[in-house]
Amino acid sequence: MKNISVAIDGPAGAGKSTVAKKVAKKMDLLYIDTGAMYRAITFLVLQEGIAIDDEQKIINIAKNTTFDFSKDGSEIFVNGENRSKEIRTPMVSENVSFVSQIGALRTVLVNAQQKLADNHDVIMDGRDIGTHVLPKADLKVFLTASVEERATRRFEELSRQNKAGSVTFEAVKKNIIQRDTIDSNREQAPLVKAEDAVEIDTTTLTTNEVVDRIISLIRKIHR
Ligand code: CDP
Repeated sequence: MKNISVAIDGPAGAGKSTVAKKVAKKMDLLYIDTGAMYRAITFLVLQEGIAIDDEQKIINIAKNTTFDFSKDGSEIFVNGENRSKEIRTPMVSENVSFVSQIGALRTVLVNAQQKLADNHDVIMDGRDIGTHVLPKADLKVFLTASVEERATRRFEELSRQNKAGSVTFEAVKKNIIQRDTIDSNREQAPLVKAEDAVEIDTTTLTTNEVVDRIISLIRKIHR
């Protein structure tokens, strides 16, 4: 039987990973967080003191990096080391969209993502999943929410995990707006809703309401 593939795209902080993780668990799908891969490369670039516009060095790093995910997709192992915390620092968030603009880097990561998706029932989230990584996905969902709501969710998430540090709500909101602008305007695979994606505005919905909606859409997929 053919594998199921679900693509979840949308702007920063729309709740993609929270929702995708829950859907994965309930529907027994493999969850792949592609944003974590772009973040991991950005983390390595910063750690090694490489300039964020040094395309050749960045592409070399990507070609020599391995990615593994824990079963529920919430932990990422980069070259065998658990980097789940380091990839979510404000420093990485501030630089990741600049690094993600590099076309040749995207090609390397998209290939790795397609390999991860081979032979599994997957739910994958990111910016270009429905448009480039899994263009034939059985279901494509585009999650949105107002900027205010997305910034509030991200700030509360950081505060809950004690990761906000000295970062203010305004700084979180500014980062979200900046990343959306860069992600939507880059040349290769910009953030855009796939023509055949179902758009869900989550501004006034709870996580479970979004999860239930996606599950009912998956159940409608003709297998
Ligand atoms: O979780 P959050 O919404 O903060 O973002 P993320 O999914 O962790 O992605 C971080 C950044 O990686 C995005 O702002 C994009 O610049 C980039 N990204 C991308 O270009 N393509 C993807 N498929 C996923 C992420």
